Amino acid sequence: MTVTIIGGGGREHAIAWKLKNDDKNIRLYAVPGNGGISGIAECVSIDTSDVVKLAEFAEEKGSDYTIVGPEVPLSLGIADIFAERGLKVFGPSMKGAMLESSKVFAKQFMKRNGIPTADFIVVSSHDEGVKALEEAEYPCVLKYDGLAAGKGVVVAENREEAVMFLDGVYGRKVFGRGSRKVIIEKCLRGRELSYLVFTDTLSFLSMVPAKDHKRVFDCDRGPNTGGMGCSSPPAFFTEDLGKEIRKKIVIPTLNGLSKENVDYRGVLYFGLMLTQDGPFLLEYNARFGDPETQVILPRMKSPLIETVKAVSERRLDSISIEWSDRKSVCVILASSGYPGSYSKGKVVKGLSCPGNVTIFHAGTEKRNGDIFTSGGRVLGITAMGTTMREAREDAYRAAALIDFEGKHYRTDIGLDSSV
Ligand code: AMP
Ligand code: GLY
Repeated sequence: MTVTIIGGGGREHAIAWKLKNDDKNIRLYAVPGNGGISGIAECVSIDTSDVVKLAEFAEEKGSDYTIVGPEVPLSLGIADIFAERGLKVFGPSMKGAMLESSKVFAKQFMKRNGIPTADFIVVSSHDEGVKALEEAEYPCVLKYDGLAAGKGVVVAENREEAVMFLDGVYGRKVFGRGSRKVIIEKCLRGRELSYLVFTDTLSFLSMVPAKDHKRVFDCDRGPNTGGMGCSSPPAFFTEDLGKEIRKKIVIPTLNGLSKENVDYRGVLYFGLMLTQDGPFLLEYNARFGDPETQVILPRMKSPLIETVKAVSERRLDSISIEWSDRKSVCVILASSGYPGSYSKGKVVKGLSCPGNVTIFHAGTEKRNGDIFTSGGRVLGITAMGTTMREAREDAYRAAALIDFEGKHYRTDIGLDSSV
């Protein structure tokens, strides 16, 4: 079996690690991979937005499956190109990926399928936005329509912050010259939860739930990041809540996709806000989460490739997935300056760790046998335990032993799950 993984973050390291753990003999390629992935896969440097080249690569290497980590190749139609060439790919079609690549498409899809989401309006110019803000209540949430690497959303506390966001979109063009649309929506209050499913559109299998910690500093202070750590399961998650999420959000989404003839085969990620009025959907992601994957896959007991195959062959209803009851936590170690501009090229020491701790590399590269930092999020330290407290203690012990100049991390990951 040969599998190619597209991407080079902690999520892709966790996917590669899981596949290798399930089957020592699997042959793995990673495009582009990173310093950690290079220990278990052959890393190849191809531009991950060049979807035709990626298809040629899969053909040349006889890759049985290609698993797509990040959103950009999905939004560019990698699944459609692979399907045209008879290549097997794990990830939705371009139309399916629009649930993530266009927030306007996603919100309108939620509305027409009766999925609970915050009330919103869409504006298409700076003037229209400023006018709409006259009616807004603060805080309110502004979202750029297109992909923005996790930076396209602001929770504006007042009019100045909201107008500043519009200035960025329409004046400085901080998100480029793609979509000209912005969503202005009501701010919801509650706890956030990441709920991911495997789906072939016809049916789905839920993964274990996870809680992301998006802000850079402890107690959810400071700017948003790609995610500073995750825990699974969050202490507040109950089976009844899972049932409600499936009934109000997951099933209506899949029914909507089927009705609209969208071929969706991959992971669908529901970013939820658990409000006093029940779960509301903030966003879809058309892929595995990062760092959610680093706490979810270590709890997956069944072989990942069997699920990938079943999704690809549209027979997900014929299999089941076994999950471990153990708790998992992942603490991200970030470079100095992240999520702003950050330092790179710092040597990383202290990477050996005890058995129940796994280090997933994100922004690292290997040079002459040494590991150097090369990104904002550098490493994810995942630990498993019978209790969340045990998992946290082990993860933080390992985190303290790892050293690189400027290392910073949150100290409260999984704390609200410490039971
Ligand atoms: P999104 O990319 O839509 O998930 O937004 C990124 C983050 O912004 C979310 O994880 C929330 O923390 C916050 N957010 C988005 N929409 C809302 C909302 N309607 N109310 C409150 N916070 C929100
Ligand atoms: N952890 C958030 C995301 O993957 O988008």
